Amino acid sequence: MKFSTLSSIGLTSLTAVLAAPSASYGRAPSKGAVFALTNAVDNAVIAFSRNEDGSLIKTGTFSTGGHGQGVDFDTQGGLQLSADHRFLYAVNPADDHVTVFEVASGGSSLKKIQSVYAGDQPLSISLSSTGFAYVLDGSVASTGIFGFKVNRQTGLLSPLTNSTIATSSPIGVPGTVTFAPDGHSLIVTNKVSSTIDVFSVASNGHASLGPLTSVASSGLRPFGAIYGRSNTLYVVESGLPALGNAALSTYHLNGGQSPVLEPLTKSAKNQQTDGCWVVVTPDEKFAYTASFITAAISSYSVAKNGTATLIKGVEAFTGEGSEPVDLALSSDGAYLYNLLRGSGAIAAWKIQADGSLKSIGNSFGKGQGIPVADGASGLAAY
Ligand SMILES: *[C@@H]1O[C@H](CO)[C@@H](O)[C@H](O)[C@H]1NC(C)=O
Ligand SMILES: *[C@@H]1O[C@H](CO)[C@@H](O)[C@H](O)[C@H]1NC(C)=O
Repeated sequence: MKFSTLSSIGLTSLTAVLAAPSASYGRAPSKGAVFALTNAVDNAVIAFSRNEDGSLIKTGTFSTGGHGQGVDFDTQGGLQLSADHRFLYAVNPADDHVTVFEVASGGSSLKKIQSVYAGDQPLSISLSSTGFAYVLDGSVASTGIFGFKVNRQTGLLSPLTNSTIATSSPIGVPGTVTFAPDGHSLIVTNKVSSTIDVFSVASNGHASLGPLTSVASSGLRPFGAIYGRSNTLYVVESGLPALGNAALSTYHLNGGQSPVLEPLTKSAKNQQTDGCWVVVTPDEKFAYTASFITAAISSYSVAKNGTATLIKGVEAFTGEGSEPVDLALSSDGAYLYNLLRGSGAIAAWKIQADGSLKSIGNSFGKGQGIPVADGASGLAAY
């Protein structure tokens, strides 16, 4: 048995070497996938494979087996891939569960492997580098975070305590949960109270909020947030109720036992309205925000010290009534995708060397299962 395994490995690598110069051998190389969450009553993920030029082809609809709420989550991060993109995690806010899918190796097809209780109205999920996950629960009755241990071999979630840990403000209306790169802390943005909660996460995964760890946001209504590997936190501010007041702020995390966030760029405005979603390229050279009301993608350049400078307020216009929501990058950072809730489609751009965006199309998946103006929320890509 062992012998035949060894010889088949030998044959396989020989075949691979021989086939390498000719791209026509066998299946076309996969360039990754994009997944969008419908958030419909019968919640589902619409899956796309990515072509070499960044364009998308729908490959399937995969039921979560749970229920969406049919209205926008108003959060970032409702659909998340594991770092090795072998597993996909989807929230079902209307039935309080998270669905775990296994992603076909290098492909876009999904197999449901778990449905697990995740607290009252799960809206966003973040996975740590240390094997834990926290879900953000946004219900008015119990706003907080709900933790899991993640089996990184099987993708399965086991609840840490089966209870929600409260955020600093029960009426803060949270925007996202996101782990720091080292996994020793996580943050939650609070839109209405304009604060950012910094939770410490112990080595057993238990999270706690100290008395001094809710910091003032540099700008109004912090919404989506994401860490870069450098420990810089990128936070987009909606800026509402003022119009033209959307912005990006950055913070430096001093991690360790008592994590502290220090403001770097304070509210670099982009003149758009209701900025809600943010991504940063893996090399941390550029950040992009999506503004729901003015249907604009804004671009920022990021210096090595973490300060962000606006390149263009309207780097891309997604179309009248298109309602841009979640953003996602291919794992090589070369392509940007945006879920258009209004038009029920996905827009795609190739990121140029100077950070500008070259459109590939803005109607991928249109008429193929993403609800039109009916609450689609959550986008993931690799
Ligand atoms: C959480 O609840 C589930 C379902 O009731 C139960 O199977 C599990 O053992 C509980 N886990 C903990 C850590 O309490
Ligand atoms: C950060 O880097 C930028 C670009 O190099 C520079 O203009 C700015 O002064 C630096 N800021 C700080 C606080 O060091």
